[in-house]
Amino acid sequence: MKLAVADAAIREVKSDMILGLGSGSTAALMIKSLANEIRLGKLQNIRGVATSFQSEVLALELDIPLIDLASVSKIDLAIDGADEVDPRFQLIKGGGACHVREKLVASKSEQLLIVVDETKLVQNLNQSFPLPVEVLPNAWKQVQEAISEMNSTSSLRMATKKAGPVVTDQGNLILDVLFDNGIKNPKDVEMKINNIPGVLENGLFIDLTDKVLVGKIENNTPVVYSPSRES
Ligand code: 5RP
Repeated sequence: MKLAVADAAIREVKSDMILGLGSGSTAALMIKSLANEIRLGKLQNIRGVATSFQSEVLALELDIPLIDLASVSKIDLAIDGADEVDPRFQLIKGGGACHVREKLVASKSEQLLIVVDETKLVQNLNQSFPLPVEVLPNAWKQVQEAISEMNSTSSLRMATKKAGPVVTDQGNLILDVLFDNGIKNPKDVEMKINNIPGVLENGLFIDLTDKVLVGKIENNTPVVYSPSRES
């Protein structure tokens, strides 16, 4: 499913584009598919803007030319994965702790194309997937206390194969937040959380997405479709 949706996303790319390169397993497949098209000469003069250390290293390995976010005024198209997508295309991202740069890239992009498999589609955000919040290291406890006053519980994301917490590409920590009744008003929650001192950015992506490509399995075959956004 992920491979089919990653390949479908590359069909939206045209030569000469500046492309935002997302993070996560689906975005990684998209980057590999992009490198293949470049190698075959089907896409020319593509420049990528990485959203994470992961996408930067992968693009370098695959000889995709990269430019720095600060050196571009506009990105033509960003292609990225997501952890949850609601019917209005509001998203939760940050499962890979990359949402700070992902949101910067998405905000500078003319179009944000999201690539997911069907399991990521939800009616209401945050019923099961916790909202990632990037916090300054010495502020995590203070932020956690402030967030607990918003009818939610949070936990510090812990690393695997390393003692202690996950440390982001920017050197910060992640709190994963679950609201008691999910997130009913994502716009409001995005602003309220970002207003807490010590918070760098949260994983709610509001009104940034124009199109979602969804992969599913039908009769043992991967199929890709593009749902319409509910207003
Ligand atoms: C990383 C992200 C990813 O795009 C999101 O976690 C989806 O990843 P995957 O395609 O591996 O399910 O937001 O911060």
